[in-house]
Amino acid sequence: MRPLQLTFAIIKPHVVKQPLVLETIRDMILTSNFKVVKTRRHAFTLKEAELFYEEHRNKFFYNRLVTFMTSGPSDFYILARDDAIKEWRKLMGPTKVFKTQFEAPDSIRGQFGLSDTRNATHGSDSPESVRKEVGLFFPHFDIENWYQEEEPKFR
Ligand code: TYD
Ligand code: MG
Repeated sequence: MRPLQLTFAIIKPHVVKQPLVLETIRDMILTSNFKVVKTRRHAFTLKEAELFYEEHRNKFFYNRLVTFMTSGPSDFYILARDDAIKEWRKLMGPTKVFKTQFEAPDSIRGQFGLSDTRNATHGSDSPESVRKEVGLFFPHFDIENWYQEEEPKFR
C-alpha cells in the first residue's frame, strides 16, 4: 500500500445547514476511501477568513467569499488517503459551477455547488497549504505524527 497523505477539507456553511446533503458528502468521502483523521465544526471568524484566504485578497470575489464563509458554521476535516490532496480535489470537482456541469456533474461541487462562492467544499491545493490550513484550525495537531491520532470518526 502507498503511504497515506493528509489533506484539509472544509464543508462550507450552506451545506452544514442541509443535513441530508452533508450526509451524502460524508458518504462520498468514506466510499472514496478517505480516512477521517480529525473533524471540527466551527464558524470562521473574520480574522480567520482573512488569513485563510489571504492569497485572494485582491480578487473581485474576496469580500463576497469572506462574508459567506463567516455566515455560519463550517465543518473542518483532516482526511488521509494515498494522493489525498489530488484525490479530494478530484472528488470536489472544478471551482466554477458552470464548469462542473460539463466536466464533473457527479462531483460534490457538480451536485451541490450553488455558485462559484457557495461551491460546497474547500480542499488544500498543496502540501504547503495543508500545513498552513491545518495549523490554523487544528493548532494542536501534530502533522508529522498524525498516525498516532484517534480512530476515524464522523458519527
Ligand atoms: P480558488 O482557490 O481559486 O478555488 P478552489 O476552492 O477550487 O481552490 O478560490 C477559493 C475560493 O474562492 C473558492 O472555493 C470560492 C471563491 N471563488 C469565488 O467566489 N469566485 C470565483 O470566481 C473563484 C475563482 C473563487
Ligand atoms: Mg484554492
